[in-house]
Amino acid sequence: MIQSFNKINRISGTLSLPGDKSISHRALLIASMADGESTIVNLPYGEDIKSTINCLKLLGIKIEIAGNKTIVYGKGFKGYSPPSKILDAGNSGTTTRLLSGILAAQNFESTIEGDSSLSSRPMGRIIEPLTLMGSKIKSNNGRLPLQIYPAERFRPINYELPIASAQVKSAILLAGIHLDDETTVIESGQTRNHTEILLDINVIKEDRKIISCVSRKNYPNTKNYFIPGDISSAMFFIVLTLLNENSELLIKNISLNPTRTESINLLKRMGANMQIEVKGESNKEVYGDLLVKSSNLSNVKIDSEILPLIIDEIPILAVAGIFTDGDFEIRGASELRVKESDRIKALISNFHLLGLETEEYPDGFKVLGKIKKSKQSFQCFGDHRIAMAFAILSSLLKDGGKVEGFESVAISNPQFLDQLKSITAKF
Ligand code: S3P
Repeated sequence: MIQSFNKINRISGTLSLPGDKSISHRALLIASMADGESTIVNLPYGEDIKSTINCLKLLGIKIEIAGNKTIVYGKGFKGYSPPSKILDAGNSGTTTRLLSGILAAQNFESTIEGDSSLSSRPMGRIIEPLTLMGSKIKSNNGRLPLQIYPAERFRPINYELPIASAQVKSAILLAGIHLDDETTVIESGQTRNHTEILLDINVIKEDRKIISCVSRKNYPNTKNYFIPGDISSAMFFIVLTLLNENSELLIKNISLNPTRTESINLLKRMGANMQIEVKGESNKEVYGDLLVKSSNLSNVKIDSEILPLIIDEIPILAVAGIFTDGDFEIRGASELRVKESDRIKALISNFHLLGLETEEYPDGFKVLGKIKKSKQSFQCFGDHRIAMAFAILSSLLKDGGKVEGFESVAISNPQFLDQLKSITAKF
């Protein structure tokens, strides 16, 4: 599907966004393991979340959706039923990696497959630690499909993450809650910490290491979850507001988990006028309101230390960067190459359509110069975040632009177009 976007001149209004995708996957998985009924309010119904729901249903978990409320009937410790079919994770890396951790601890065999993008993404990063725990996993050279067999002796590990990945960390932690003895995961930099928060896991900070210790004591009980709005989805509207004149946007009940707000801190360092008001907590996940106003931005140096915390927002931050004084440069972000698309290649090839100069590095890119060509048709490489980033970029161009393959937006935010329309000021 080719979607056209006209130039937007002013943003005004209020948005309440569907729940954060990362927290939602975890709430569903954790609720499915608890013994009894948990409720989840504000679950987003993007394709990735549907993938997690469908896999859980095949594992014998009853899930009912009634308006904004989802009820999960958890089956308790090792209560899943062996699936009658292959589990299809669709496009969702989080479904695959987190669910693999849980399945590694079960007493039955299961297989996970996915679409062509997911099937090209690296799974060796979870196969290695789960194999150390005793699980037997067959893969297609470190890629999907994964066949997970019951372990002869499932055991705890002490594991230092070789790459900064919340998905890998979470796979190990979700496996570790099935064992009486303690499993520890050591990170040399912070990644998003929703699994630790929702399972009430003890986290120790020692020098520059972050150590999470988990055991059966962290096995979940039933809970009521409110999922705060998705900050990664909000970032598209935030950047659009900042770059339009006379604009103001209030985003309500957005996740303000400090491991997710680094993009906001970065935009503030670039000169963004944004005010945060903390409103409350749900299961220790902080949320609040964010007021965004038109701003004059300048590019700043982006430290590689914060990259794991801004990784999903880099496509839209790069769009902000090209409308801003100075050059936009990202280094130390080789993980961008193994997301839903190779996001370094995807961004660079679309930026070239605008006549921008770029430099490509194995772990990043630099964009220089000014936009020379307009009215382009951008490709999104089947990647929802590239689709939304270039929808926003098109809305900032004098002659607008088009995005090909725009349907991939449904992976994380099927309501994107309605939300955009609702905040586009008529005059
Ligand atoms: C996620 C972690 C990140 C992120 C992904 C969601 C999560 O991936 O890019 O969109 O929910 O844990 P990695 O942990 O693999 O970097």
